[in-house]
Amino acid sequence: MLAIRNISKSFTQRGLVLDNLSFDVNEADLIAIMGPSGSGKTTLMNIIGLLDKPDNGEITFKGASIAKFNDDESAVYRNRNIGFVFQDHLLLPYLTVSENILLPLLAARYSSDELAKREQHINKLMEKTGISDLAGKYPFQISGGEAQRVALVRALANNPSILLADEPTGSLDAKNADILGELLLEMNREYGITLILATHSVDLAKKMSRRLRLKEGKLIV
Ligand SMILES: Nc1ncnc2c1ncn2[C@@H]1O[C@H](COP(=O)(O)OP(=O)(O)OP(=O)(O)O)[C@@H](O)[C@H]1O
Ligand SMILES: [Mg+2]
Repeated sequence: MLAIRNISKSFTQRGLVLDNLSFDVNEADLIAIMGPSGSGKTTLMNIIGLLDKPDNGEITFKGASIAKFNDDESAVYRNRNIGFVFQDHLLLPYLTVSENILLPLLAARYSSDELAKREQHINKLMEKTGISDLAGKYPFQISGGEAQRVALVRALANNPSILLADEPTGSLDAKNADILGELLLEMNREYGITLILATHSVDLAKKMSRRLRLKEGKLIV
């Protein structure tokens, strides 16, 4: 589904972070990207999600080249195909839980039929993740574990084929980390979502079907 070929990226202060890196992602893959702090996990995730551009290399998604998209094309690609979950939930503080989740739908400009279908799907996801009762609350009124589940549902609102999760359990306690990990697996099983996950957690990485390690700018098995 996603082919990453000979990607390199350097930053002025740091030098080469990703060094001619290649890998393939298949549909419904569960991939953990591991590696020490500063090894380039976030840099790689940002490039896959078109939040950042590689210096060199090619990325194709379902056969089409995406690495050279302009900003508008990148935004459309992201909105349609990619969901993001970060270490911090990044919920907007002045919107309720359900408003936060529904926000990505506005950008997608669905027909009213399609919108109704999406909203129904979201209600189901909110039930599955145990956040239905929180719909009217504001982010400051819910726990960190709950907020991260809200962020997960928001990431899935537009039915992306790929979910990029950058240390999604990094700020959670063991119990909430476990709940979130299981939910990520469930989304993969039920909806065939491809998961690419950067994590320091060996427990979470063990749940994935492939574990790759970033070392000296390369991904090794
Ligand atoms: N925008 C930037 N400008 C300059 N240097 C950057 C930038 N983004 C990342 N770097 C550098 O690139 C290297 C890789 O950073 P990155 O955030 O990808 O690491 P990481 O593996 O995600 O680390 P962590 O586990 O701490 O999240 C680091 O040395 C970082 O300082
Ligand atoms: Mg990082």
